[in-house]
Amino acid sequence: MDKGNKPSLEVSLSPALLHLYDLSQKIVVVIDVLRATSTICTALHHGAQKVIPVDSVEKCIEIGRQLGAITAGERDGQIAPGLEHGNSPLEYPASFIQGKTLVLTTTNGTRLLHMAKDAEEIVIGSFLNLSIVCDYLVARNRPVVLACAGWKDRINLEDSVLAGAILHRIKSHFDVQCDAALIAEQLYLATHNNLMEHIQQASHYKRLSQHGFQRDIAYCLKIDQATVLPLYRDGAIERA
Ligand code: MLT
Repeated sequence: MDKGNKPSLEVSLSPALLHLYDLSQKIVVVIDVLRATSTICTALHHGAQKVIPVDSVEKCIEIGRQLGAITAGERDGQIAPGLEHGNSPLEYPASFIQGKTLVLTTTNGTRLLHMAKDAEEIVIGSFLNLSIVCDYLVARNRPVVLACAGWKDRINLEDSVLAGAILHRIKSHFDVQCDAALIAEQLYLATHNNLMEHIQQASHYKRLSQHGFQRDIAYCLKIDQATVLPLYRDGAIERA
């Protein structure tokens, strides 16, 4: 394909940088490896009807009550007071979540979903659904922004590596004129052979480990374990 006809592919390494990208007429892939987007993919893969991301604990409780839904979320990695469940993907096996609606509020991931509202389409990305996201982006043939949630507006390692992994797989189908994308790909190439070792140096690894969530981290780094394509539209995330 002639390079000039390829859609653009860009990476935003932090929510604080997202305002620099024109999201209208673009597909935004929201990435929060540890753990919001991994939890969303897992819940939907295990049969959740939908996930409603909200930006406050109060809204989570109110919507949960209205819909008779499960309320879940975290602040600084731990279950937020007042909510029934946390943001651990391992809390949502099929035996628990099938057919249910999850109302979820998290520190960074659900906030970023709201920030991306001007996009043409919003896709939920994680290592757990890496291949299906890549296949979808290639098939759609539209401009893409890979948006990393980071931690409280700071760049983080795990989201940047996943952005690099996606880019590395699909870049031949896109026009890449974005240094953040090049940085993400270099990071992926430098770390993917022993990813866990590198992630152990990440700030959120340390934060989650202090709370005993090592199993979550190992799970969230697995590739193609939750083969779903979650799309966020009209206030809810559902399987495409
Ligand atoms: C977030 O959205 O900030 C996170 O997913 C935090 C976490 O639960 O580990």
